[in-house]
Amino acid sequence: MLRTIEGLDVQGKRVFVRVDYNVPLDDDGKIRDDTRIRASLPTLKYLLDRGAALILASHLGRPKGKVVPEMSLRPVARALEELLGRPVKVAPDCIGDEVKRMAEELRPGDVLLLENLRFHPEEEENDPGFAKKLADLADVYVNDAFGTAHRAHASTEGIARYIPAYAGFLMKKEIESLRKLLENPERPFVAVIGGAKVSDKIGVLRNLLDRVDALLIGGGMANTFLLAQKFEVGKSLSEPDFVPVATEIMAEAAKKGKDLLLPEDLVIATAPKVGEPPRVVARDRIPADMMALDIGPKTRKLFSTKIGQARTVFWNGPMGVFEVEPFRGGTLEIAAAVAAVNGFTVVGGGDSVVALEMAGLSSKIGHVSTGGGASLEFLEGKELPGVKILER
Ligand code: 3PG
Repeated sequence: MLRTIEGLDVQGKRVFVRVDYNVPLDDDGKIRDDTRIRASLPTLKYLLDRGAALILASHLGRPKGKVVPEMSLRPVARALEELLGRPVKVAPDCIGDEVKRMAEELRPGDVLLLENLRFHPEEEENDPGFAKKLADLADVYVNDAFGTAHRAHASTEGIARYIPAYAGFLMKKEIESLRKLLENPERPFVAVIGGAKVSDKIGVLRNLLDRVDALLIGGGMANTFLLAQKFEVGKSLSEPDFVPVATEIMAEAAKKGKDLLLPEDLVIATAPKVGEPPRVVARDRIPADMMALDIGPKTRKLFSTKIGQARTVFWNGPMGVFEVEPFRGGTLEIAAAVAAVNGFTVVGGGDSVVALEMAGLSSKIGHVSTGGGASLEFLEGKELPGVKILER
């Protein structure tokens, strides 16, 4: 059972909230998708309404223990300020005398955002001294960073050993929604898995096979399955080393009587670039000098029909190189099919969430998970360190 902030007395207290503001930024440092910031608002408002002062902390990107100015959380503070409708102060660092002073000066209703935790190597090392310094800033610790709950870092795990620790509302909602998929989902249960690599998703594919009625595979990872079926994939992204794994997964699906659907046709071009004239071919017709960049119309129809029959759907990973306009159609069509399901739907993973936003369909999804890796590890059946430490 998770200890949550529900009913917690925070009046006059300083509350350290670990959020996951690892948001996608464009080349000019502008936030491309603010889903993770918006998803943290219910917890922040609840604590502020009850008289807390907030110290917010997050990582952004992978600066590897060094200060990387492009990975500063300052742009996030500006966005949060607008969404929250109150000023957000930005600390010059996440530990140190100046930060301690700023934390001590906070009054009920104040919000202070610390600078990127990963500017210090001790964060990812889960260094106890560093965790203690973070804890010393506050009276209470709240973790609402579901997206980072699969990491045992100082701000997601170590800190909870020093001050009373609770889960925020986003953390609670994520766990409850994902648990619903693993425990007693309404049937048929269809999982749609895309993205680049099989190697990233072996665990989740295996664990989901036991639970779903059908597994639909698209995106770059489908090419490795096509290789396993002895099709030529030309210059397409694939992982020949994982052909045996793909073969095993297909055999397991057949043994368990589960449908495993792969692309039957593909959109191909010589490169994932605008201006490259895309062509549609059957899966046994990919020329040696071309690459598969999206699922074709026949596959879209096949997948959408299967999704349309489902009462529970989990979708993670795009069906092609959806960032590039000519290769976006398959992913958007899957987004529309999932949004139209009459049942419980969960979409996880940064790219799928961006695709949903692009299509304006996020509000039609039962639960849009803010966790990519975290939601996959959860569905693999792994224990997440950031969740375990909050359990009674
Ligand atoms: C994510 O975006 O998946 C989380 O913020 C975790 O980031 P990480 O993979 O760099 O630990």
